[in-house]
Amino acid sequence: MKRFPTLPLLSLFIALAQSRSLEPRQNSNSTDCRNVPGSAGYPSPTAWNVFNATIFGRLLEVVPPAKYYDYLPAGGCTDAQWTSALFRGTIPGAMSYINWEQGYDLDPPSLCLRNGTTCGQGDLPVYSVEAETVGDVQAAVQFASKHNLRLVVKSTGHDGLGRSTAPNSLLIRVSKFQNVSSTDEFYVGGENMGSAVTIGSGVHANTIYQHNKGQGKFSVVAAAETVAPAGGQIQGGGHSPLSPAYGLVSDNALEFDIVVASGELLRASSASNPDLFFALRGGGAGSWGVIISATIRTFPTFNATSAVTVLQVPNNTVVGSLATLHAQHVFDWDSVQAGHFFWFEKTQIGSTDPNVPTSFILFTYMPNTTAEQSQILLAPFINASLALPGVVFVSQTFKDGEINDVMFGPDDGVGGNVVLGSRLVPEALYRDSPEKVGPVYKELFDNGTTAQSNILPFPLLTTNSHGRLLGQMVSGGTVSKNGHISSAVHPAWRAAKTHLMFANSWDDSASLAQVDALRAMFQTTQLPLLEKLSGLNAGAYSNEADNSEPDFQSTFFGPNYAKLSDIKAKYDPHDLFIVAAGVGSERWDEWGLCRV
Ligand SMILES: *[C@@H]1O[C@H](CO)[C@@H](O)[C@H](O)[C@H]1NC(C)=O
Ligand SMILES: *[C@@H]1O[C@H](CO)[C@@H](O)[C@H](O)[C@H]1NC(C)=O
Ligand SMILES: *[C@@H]1O[C@H](CO)[C@@H](O)[C@H](O)[C@H]1NC(C)=O
Ligand SMILES: *[C@@H]1O[C@H](CO)[C@@H](O)[C@H](O)[C@H]1NC(C)=O
Ligand SMILES: *[C@@H]1O[C@H](CO)[C@@H](O)[C@H](O)[C@H]1NC(C)=O
Ligand SMILES: *[C@@H]1O[C@H](CO)[C@@H](O)[C@H](O)[C@H]1NC(C)=O
Ligand SMILES: *[C@@H]1O[C@H](CO)[C@@H](O)[C@H](O)[C@H]1NC(C)=O
Ligand SMILES: *[C@@H]1O[C@H](CO)[C@@H](O)[C@H](O)[C@H]1NC(C)=O
Ligand SMILES: *[C@@H]1O[C@H](CO)[C@@H](O)[C@H](O)[C@H]1NC(C)=O
Repeated sequence: MKRFPTLPLLSLFIALAQSRSLEPRQNSNSTDCRNVPGSAGYPSPTAWNVFNATIFGRLLEVVPPAKYYDYLPAGGCTDAQWTSALFRGTIPGAMSYINWEQGYDLDPPSLCLRNGTTCGQGDLPVYSVEAETVGDVQAAVQFASKHNLRLVVKSTGHDGLGRSTAPNSLLIRVSKFQNVSSTDEFYVGGENMGSAVTIGSGVHANTIYQHNKGQGKFSVVAAAETVAPAGGQIQGGGHSPLSPAYGLVSDNALEFDIVVASGELLRASSASNPDLFFALRGGGAGSWGVIISATIRTFPTFNATSAVTVLQVPNNTVVGSLATLHAQHVFDWDSVQAGHFFWFEKTQIGSTDPNVPTSFILFTYMPNTTAEQSQILLAPFINASLALPGVVFVSQTFKDGEINDVMFGPDDGVGGNVVLGSRLVPEALYRDSPEKVGPVYKELFDNGTTAQSNILPFPLLTTNSHGRLLGQMVSGGTVSKNGHISSAVHPAWRAAKTHLMFANSWDDSASLAQVDALRAMFQTTQLPLLEKLSGLNAGAYSNEADNSEPDFQSTFFGPNYAKLSDIKAKYDPHDLFIVAAGVGSERWDEWGLCRV
């Protein structure tokens, strides 16, 4: 993960960088490459038809979303459809963030943009298995294995690293795995683990909130409504604003059902296949097999208050002052085990002018508080903020009641071009030297971003924006206390207070050179500054990160990487499940098509 890789990693990076300009090999007969359309070992049309029949006709051609929408009765789609995660979820090829659909690095580039005049398949799969049963998944895994195909697995396509798509691949889509069931007594190896809910890998967080409410229960899952906790969130570790009170989502996972590379359906828990159970909690999404379902703990429900506070900050100097003040107050809400998200963004799209005002937006989630109590707990920080020169109060709104209602939202706004970059920042920094935070934020904003941009909402955001610095209070409290849990979660989580993340974005008019500059911006400009806060060997959350991290092994998995490699060799000896910056991906080119 370091930007100063050791020599072997440096050569890997160079190899990857060189392969970027090459077309994925279409006609190689090398056993080192997977079969792609046109290669000798690729299944014949008859073989595909036979396969399709064995899965009851659930094999679909993947059509790029911008083209797919043209087939809608009205012709084209509305902006509301294009930006709806729920609507995009009905389209096999659609990703939440459209940059992952594009083949920027193919030779020649292959793009399919909304309102565009040309349309290429880009980085999208060739076919999708719209799985409805475990048998469909097993048949698809065996077919891909037999014919040496590039396989990808997708639930919602919300993933921030574009891992659930790849050119020339076969997709297994699990979005139809919608089973949800609750129990008061969940047994693992004869031990009663208490109440729990079992969720299919296609189930969204908002469905879980609704289901649990009916049971008088609560589970810690994503704040984004259409994230699939079983289908990917838990494999990254998984955070929620309720994590300071209840731990990471992966800390609450009790069991998985998963189809592994052999085609077998395995159960993974502390009592069966415990090594696989270890890997499925923090070892990275997409690397272990096709998850059918996960069982996670439930807790008695409670009331809570969420609040959104918006301030306007006049210039980058005051952004720095406010960032330090926030760092000094970051423990203010620990008494109620609150979680919070906060971000800074320029009020004018694309502006790098230090004197253009910046919005500061703070989301807080406080368990077992009323709106009045929540406001009182926020007041010391808000009052001190308003004492800074030129800081203006914009708004403060509260939502209170039963926790599942507070967390519920109907949809996520997506559909833009966004790449992320991130680091976990230790609690010790905030405790010992919060004054270091402001100067780094000021410099980050002074250095700004160069590209024009007009992105669609990224987590919870309702306005267009760009170059945002998003801070998430993901840790501390129970996350730190859960350090004894044996899982693949990067140990940096247990010592962290925040996960700081950049969302760099562009609109469709950006040139390929601008896209490349934005994709590189985290590593070149932002990370050197961010490391002044996180330190040089900090980890990052592998679901919300930069997929070009040169040393992803230590950035995402830290000291767990060697153990994860061994578990991979046991359950996926031939690397059927390879994803960008995932366990074993160092052995493959950036498309997962040829061994390097
Ligand atoms: C691959 O093998 C087939 C059949 O043996 C042969 O016709 C073709 O020329 C080979 N392609 C390459 C690129 O070597
Ligand atoms: C698979 O079979 C179904 C049902 O016959 C058909 O609608 C679909 O087009 C087939 N898929 C492919 C890729 O041919
Ligand atoms: C595409 O066209 C639609 C309909 O005219 C319009 O609403 C939308 O903003 C356009 N989108 C882009 C990305 O140009
Ligand atoms: C969903 O639940 C039904 C009823 O219990 C069961 O028959 C089916 O196999 C389940 N589907 C999956 C994918 O687990
Ligand atoms: C909230 O209150 C309920 C009921 O007293 C309790 O069970 C739960 O642990 C509390 N949760 C937090 C995070 O304080
Ligand atoms: C914050 O400011 C308000 C309005 O000036 C005041 O009523 C309140 O007492 C202050 N609270 C704190 C904690 O300083
Ligand atoms: C930033 O804004 C504050 C409040 O308006 C002002 O006092 C200060 O001089 C400004 N700083 C710079 C560097 O412009
Ligand atoms: C929880 O909130 C509901 C409103 O959603 C309210 O009726 C109820 O009294 C609250 N319970 C507690 C214990 O505060
Ligand atoms: C930030 O901008 C300053 C001033 O232009 C420049 O000296 C510095 O190198 C930049 N930092 C990074 C990390 O790009």
